[in-house]
Amino acid sequence: MSKGVHNRSIVIAVDGPAASGKGTLARRLATHYGFAYLDTGSLYRAVGQAVRAGGGDPADKEAALAAAKALDVSRIDEQAIRTAEAGEAASLVAVMPEVRAAILHFQRDFASRPPQGEPGAVLDGRDIGTVVCPGAQAKLFVTARPEIRARRRWLELKNSGADVTEAQVLDDIVERDRRDAERAASPMKPAEDAHLLDTSDLSIEAAFGAAVAIIDKALG
Ligand code: C5P
Repeated sequence: MSKGVHNRSIVIAVDGPAASGKGTLARRLATHYGFAYLDTGSLYRAVGQAVRAGGGDPADKEAALAAAKALDVSRIDEQAIRTAEAGEAASLVAVMPEVRAAILHFQRDFASRPPQGEPGAVLDGRDIGTVVCPGAQAKLFVTARPEIRARRRWLELKNSGADVTEAQVLDDIVERDRRDAERAASPMKPAEDAHLLDTSDLSIEAAFGAAVAIIDKALG
């Protein structure tokens, strides 16, 4: 089966900035529709983390590209990639077009041929609706005010035992947003046909309900 135009799988693109709630939402949507789920941020995190683990600098192009080419998605260490350092390393390797190109094929393949033969896939990231799957049948751009996102991420980190202040988390988030939005290669931005969903004042349940309403309408 070929990719792109002849893609029979239904694709839901969920983009948005760090800690917007898009991951939780995307996972629930995948369960709700019986679709496969891919967290594309985990790919960039795994590349950044692999460079760090090898003693390299994630801003070093050669090291980052080598790690991207060697990426084995079945062996991603979920715990190691969830740290604030891995998030930072991810956003450094993600500015490199070569790194993005190296993992683009895997993402498109996942979307057009979900691994367990599911009828569709939910992908979350920064450029799913604009670059990875511009033909996605439903596109959401999930946002929340930076202070709200920082609070959510800080609580998560604190609960997992990390020693960080809320102000530090807010600084990191603002810096990561800036880097993701200003980079030349696939910058984070809503696709023209994306539906914006601001979760600042919504519970997880309310955000999920709003997303399902948008998607049901888009899928007809
Ligand atoms: O979503 P998450 O915080 O795990 O993403 C980590 C980083 O990976 C982001 O800050 C961004 O720089 C990069 N990323 C990206 N494109 C994607 C997903 C993530 O550039 N589709």
